[in-house]
Amino acid sequence: MNIILLGPPGAGKGTQASRLEAERGMVQLSTGDMLRAARKADTPLGHQVAEVMDSGALVSDEIVSALIDEKLGTLSVDQGTIFDGYPRTAPQAESLDEILDAHDRALDFVIELVVDEDALVERITGRFTCANCGAGYHDKFKLPKVEGTCDVCGHHEFKRRPDDNEETVRTRMAEYRAKTAPILPIYEAKGLVRAVDGMADIAEVGAQIDAILDGKA
Ligand code: AP5
Ligand code: MG
Repeated sequence: MNIILLGPPGAGKGTQASRLEAERGMVQLSTGDMLRAARKADTPLGHQVAEVMDSGALVSDEIVSALIDEKLGTLSVDQGTIFDGYPRTAPQAESLDEILDAHDRALDFVIELVVDEDALVERITGRFTCANCGAGYHDKFKLPKVEGTCDVCGHHEFKRRPDDNEETVRTRMAEYRAKTAPILPIYEAKGLVRAVDGMADIAEVGAQIDAILDGKA
């Protein structure tokens, strides 16, 4: 199964993709995570994209599509995939069609996380992750079970993303409205879109997605 999680910054794409990866053995393909890894590893690509990412603008279509193509080449066709934060523009959606074709894959669903923009700033500015394993948390909605200790790996240090400040979040949302939301009709025309209430709590959003994947919704 190959699915896209589509929604604005803070909609819960990463939260749900990593849960699906853990519970179903699907592979999370997050272009944001790939770009952050390139920055962390100090690669030329990382240097090239740093400023754009920190401004909240989108990096070039060619760069992200190449990352996805390369990553799919490392997977076997029976491994399911979750596209998280890709595609984000009409040209990326076209590239994804070609890339999936080339890797003998087809899209099953585009899951739209429908959220109220006003709530997203709070979600994003409250987000933090384990500095060791990357597990995601939130100051209000998802605290570690033991204060200051990662639930997954027991590490005690956490970090926040440089683009998770209110000003940059506004730019990221404007980019979503201008360039990403317009790709939904492409997938609606193909009958692939399933809407999920992204304002429900994390477990409920997960249950709604599971019902779709299991053919019960
Ligand atoms: P990217 O990393 O993809 O960021 P984003 O799309 O802005 O989305 P986020 O990761 O901020 O949100 P999310 O939906 O994953 O939410 P999360 O689950 O963490 O991209 C970053 C940058 O990279 C871009 O700005 C761009 O520069 C570049 N880039 C990446 N891909 C690109 C592409 N394809 N093309 C061009 N440029 C690209 O949840 C947020 C918080 O809320 C968490 O703390 C979580 O615990 C909490 N939460 C989640 N669900 C719920 C819920 N239901 N209720 C309450 N809290 C919740
Ligand atoms: Mg994310």
